[in-house]
Amino acid sequence: MSKEPQPQPGIMDIEPYVGGASKIEGVDNAIKLSSNENAWGPPQAAVEAFQRASHDLHRYPGTDHWSLRAAIGEVHQLDPERIICGVGSDEIITFLCQAYAGPGDEVIHTEHGFSMYRISALAAGATPVEVPERERVVDVDAILEGVTERTRLIFIANPANPTGTMVGKKELGRLAAALPGDVVLVLDGAYAEFVDGFDGGASLVNRYPNVVMTRTFSKIYGLGGLRIGWGYAAREIIDVLNRLRGPFNLSTAQLAAAEAAVRDRAHVARCQSETARLRSWLANALAGHGVPTDTSSANFVLARFTSAEEADACDAFLKREGVIVRKVAGYKLPDCLRITIGDEPSCRRVAHLIGQFKGGAADE
Ligand SMILES: Cc1ncc(COP(=O)(O)O)c(C=O)c1O
Repeated sequence: MSKEPQPQPGIMDIEPYVGGASKIEGVDNAIKLSSNENAWGPPQAAVEAFQRASHDLHRYPGTDHWSLRAAIGEVHQLDPERIICGVGSDEIITFLCQAYAGPGDEVIHTEHGFSMYRISALAAGATPVEVPERERVVDVDAILEGVTERTRLIFIANPANPTGTMVGKKELGRLAAALPGDVVLVLDGAYAEFVDGFDGGASLVNRYPNVVMTRTFSKIYGLGGLRIGWGYAAREIIDVLNRLRGPFNLSTAQLAAAEAAVRDRAHVARCQSETARLRSWLANALAGHGVPTDTSSANFVLARFTSAEEADACDAFLKREGVIVRKVAGYKLPDCLRITIGDEPSCRRVAHLIGQFKGGAADE
């Protein structure tokens, strides 16, 4: 009998990640509000650094990412020795699962948590364990109830994707304090820069050797296409993760653009305040059309419709009008659509169309 290659256990349970759509058949210049990208793009300094890197394409990049880590450390007041850089924060999530979870181990994520937690846990052969949220907010007590002696990792995004909601500092502190020392708590701060004065969980990392923070250049820095992220943790954890990291995981262009981007604080501040302004405008406009949203701390809002059918119909209507938003049924939110905060004309357009959709539906 012929034999076939067999993937490792867990691999075939992975449902491949579905990214936000970027095209609509037959529509040029669609408005893309489906991937939480920065409507204003990266800072000019990052583009110039990327272009300069094109002169050295024949050279291998450095392996220790020192200059980028030093810049991140300086800007965020963190010890560069406790920072690791990766191909998006996705790669840091992958390293964490590979390093700390395997067959028989459990990885906790929350009901509406970012899908890469489950995918990376399965890829490592571990068992993802979902715990409930409370009205689309991460519930610390539910997480604590979900912890068993097999739990190795817990992932929380704060602010969360796709809900946009946050867990308070006190609650997170309570969670970190209650966990056994051999359970790694990962605080995913992909959207942390959108929250004024929020450290993304760095102070908890400084306090607890089993807490890790991940961050990305894909959101507020506008570099999603380049794929750069980083993690901050105790030296022991960073040492473990570095053993898994390919020496040349980041290219010269990635390193140069990210360093320029993190140093441009004016760009970050501008994107943050503009996002906050347009986010509250959009949330109000949607509320006026009978579409509620939770208070979002990120660069998107989660619009709630009366049913999954209505959300699907609105999504189809928006597509016909050239606007792409994100369906989130895969996140157990079939009656919702996630809408990225675009520039002002995009926000006005999507609000206007949803108003038209709701008005039309009400007239029927
Ligand atoms: C909560 C969260 N974490 C991590 C990521 C991954 O970001 P990247 O791999 O681009 O750094 C995303 C991207 O959408 C996200 O929403």
